[in-house]
Amino acid sequence: MPQRARSIDRRSFARRARLTAVPARQVDRQQSVTCDTIIHGATPCPSRGADDWLRPAPPMAHSQRVKSAVVKRQHNEQYACVASPTQQLSKDEGDHMRLMSSYTRSDLKQLAQRVVPHHLQTLARRALRKESDLDPYRFPRMGTEQIIEDIRAKYGFDGDLLRIFANNKSGIVHKWHHYIPIYDHYLSPYRGQKLRFLEIGVSKGGSLQMWREYFGPQATIYGIDIDQACRSYDGIAAQVRIGSQVDGDFLRSVIDEMGGIDVVLDDGSHHMEHVRKTLRQLFPKLSDGGLYMIEDLHTAYWRDFGGGYRSRKNFFQLVLDLSHDIHRWYHRQHPLVPGIGDHCRAVHVHDSIVVLEKGKVFAPVHSRVGSA
Ligand SMILES: C[S@@+](CC[C@H](N)C(=O)[O-])C[C@H]1O[C@@H](n2cnc3c(N)ncnc32)[C@H](O)[C@@H]1O
Repeated sequence: MPQRARSIDRRSFARRARLTAVPARQVDRQQSVTCDTIIHGATPCPSRGADDWLRPAPPMAHSQRVKSAVVKRQHNEQYACVASPTQQLSKDEGDHMRLMSSYTRSDLKQLAQRVVPHHLQTLARRALRKESDLDPYRFPRMGTEQIIEDIRAKYGFDGDLLRIFANNKSGIVHKWHHYIPIYDHYLSPYRGQKLRFLEIGVSKGGSLQMWREYFGPQATIYGIDIDQACRSYDGIAAQVRIGSQVDGDFLRSVIDEMGGIDVVLDDGSHHMEHVRKTLRQLFPKLSDGGLYMIEDLHTAYWRDFGGGYRSRKNFFQLVLDLSHDIHRWYHRQHPLVPGIGDHCRAVHVHDSIVVLEKGKVFAPVHSRVGSA
C-alpha cells in the first residue's frame, strides 16, 4: 500500500471541499459534470456560481467523464452529487484513489462527510478505514536489519526473498511481514524458470522490482494497474499495462501479450466483487499446474470492500464453496464455482492470502495393500 505523500496543502483541499458545497439553486438539476471538476473544483471566485463551480479544472490526464450527474439537495446546506456512472467509472476510481492517497487523515474525514459524489465519499471512507484498521499492525521499528530480524525470528525464514524485500531501494514495496515466507513457499520452484507472472496492482513499482530480482531474467513479468501514473514503471523491471482488473477485454489482451500465464498475484483493489470477477476471468487462463494467489484478504471482513464478517460476499465464502467442489466425489452435488472448482486441486488459506492450485483433477481411487 502506498506511503502517504502529501501533495496538496490543507487550505487548497478545504477550498475544494467548500466548492463542492454550493447551494443547489446555483446548480442546474441535470448537469453533466466530471469527477475532476468536483474533486479539483474550480478556482474560488467571489461570485461563486454554478458555472464557476462546474468550470472544469485542467483535466486530470486520463480520467473519464461521469455522465448525467444529478445534483440533489441534502440536509440543509449540504448537497450531494449522485452520479450515474458509465462503464468508465472504475478509471475515475483509480485516479481518485491515487489522489486520496496524498490526503491527510483529516482531509479524508472531511471528504467522507462533505458534499461530493457518493462514490467519492465511499472511497474516502474506505481509505480512512484502511488506514485506521491497519495502524495497530504497523511494524514499530525502522530499518532493513530490524525487518530481517523480525521475519527471521517469528517465521524461521531466512531465504533470498527476505533480503530482496528488506533491502529494496527502488520504488516502494509494501508487504506484511508474514507474506514473505508464504510467497517463497509457493513461488520458489519458479525461480530461474521461464515463468509467466502477472501482478495485479503496481502502485509504486517496488514489488515488480522485487519479483524481477527474485525470479531472474528468464521470467516474463507483467503488472497491471488502473492508475495511469503506473505507466512510468513500464519496462523497468517488468512490463506494465494500464487498465482495470475487472475489464475482461483488457485482461485478455494482456494475457495474449504474455503468451499465457502461470502465476497470478492479485494485489489490486481488494474489493470483493473485483477479486471474484478477476478470478473468474483469469483462473481458466492459467496453465496446468499454475497458481492463483490473492493477498490482503482481510478486506473480506470490511463492508467498505464489499465484505463483512460471515457475509455471503466475504471471499472466504467462495473458498468454502471451492472446498465443497474439491470434495464433489463424496456429495455428488453440482459444482458451486463452475469453471474453477472443477480444475482446482487445492485451496490454501493463510492469514490474508489464499492460494489456488490449478491442475487436472482425477476421481479418487483407493487400494488395500499388504497381507493380513
Ligand atoms: C496495494 S496497491 C499494490 C501494491 C503493490 N503490489 C506492492 O506490493 O507494493 C493496489 C494497487 O491496485 C490498484 N488498483 C485499484 N483498483 C484497481 C483495479 N480495478 N484494477 C487494477 N488495479 C487497481 C491501485 O491503483 C494500487 O496501485
